[in-house]
Amino acid sequence: MSGPLLLSIESSCDETGVAVIEGGRRILSNVVASQVALHAPTGGIVPELAARAHLRWIVPCLDEAWAGAAVDWRDIDGIAVTYGPGLAGSLLVGINFAKALSWVHDVPLIGVNHLEGHVYAAWLLDPGEDEATRQEPIFPLIATVVSGGHTFIAEMTDHLTYRLLGTTVDDAAGEAFDKVGRLLGLGYPGGPAIQKAAEGATRRDVRFPRAWMGDSYDLSFSGLKTAARRIVADARVAEGIGADDTETPLSEATTAELAWGFQDSVVDVLATKTVRAAKTSGARSIVLGGGVAANRCLRERLAADAEELRIPLIVPRPGLCTDNGAMIGAAGARRFESGERARLDLDARPSLPLAKR
Ligand code: KG4
Ligand code: ZN
Repeated sequence: MSGPLLLSIESSCDETGVAVIEGGRRILSNVVASQVALHAPTGGIVPELAARAHLRWIVPCLDEAWAGAAVDWRDIDGIAVTYGPGLAGSLLVGINFAKALSWVHDVPLIGVNHLEGHVYAAWLLDPGEDEATRQEPIFPLIATVVSGGHTFIAEMTDHLTYRLLGTTVDDAAGEAFDKVGRLLGLGYPGGPAIQKAAEGATRRDVRFPRAWMGDSYDLSFSGLKTAARRIVADARVAEGIGADDTETPLSEATTAELAWGFQDSVVDVLATKTVRAAKTSGARSIVLGGGVAANRCLRERLAADAEELRIPLIVPRPGLCTDNGAMIGAAGARRFESGERARLDLDARPSLPLAKR
């Protein structure tokens, strides 16, 4: 595969990721150290702990990625690193690590937007994966990114060219999964736990509200979260548990039904808006990314919708939807090829946007 060979580093949130990527597509190695177990007891990310864990794991991640890729520093064309959006302390660990490597080995540095990484994960190929069997996204396309901190629908007419069609006006989709997961006593992170619980639902007719936000492509999940709180409280009363008694869990059957109802609402809104954006803009493909894109229900629904539209849906395997270094290498390669280089004064940008409206 031609194109630059990049070392890429991700540390914006709660996963430390280091990867070696060739030509913006081929993964030579991709190592992720997850902090899920570290943050599970508090039910959410503690920024100070996250930054310390990145410090602890970034060198072992590099060592493993380096050994896995079997490359030499002379082969590396650049170092791509996430510089925002994300947690300032966490971002700084990756940025300073990348700067030190760039300076010591005299290799160019490329700053990458984490959200662009989630989009470009759609271009990745696993080691040994046949290029012919994994379609490359075709422009113009609609990219829907649903993560723990961000949710947006954008149109891309070409590489690195975004027109933001809609964003969440309050919670991100993943944040809603995490909050409702906690409400249902399912632990952290809520997304995978809700998916698993929902798969066990026998009754699938509970209807949670949908916030359609008129004709806009904007999204809102805070009303759904409030409705979930009320629905869960009612279910507690119906099961003879005090509405305020958060210690006694709901029955497994009710938990599964409510998890299903919540997931159904999020998936319906995300899929409906993505499809409308694709139809209206004449998109030739749809790209789905971000942690919530790992959700089986969302993947299946959008795959069916895209088939009806007769355009391909490109969604990375679940491990490449959640945060990882490979996606930063995929986006970084496009930035590298367009001539972008970061200087050694590259700073963390916790609120870095993908694009202006
Ligand atoms: O993209 P990501 O790894 O980190 C951020 O950039 O935020 O996304 C993490 C989010 C979490 O909120 C998590 O609950 C959600 O992705 N998530 C899922 C699933 N797997 C992860 N949500 C729904 N279903 C899943 N299978
Ligand atoms: Zn992310």
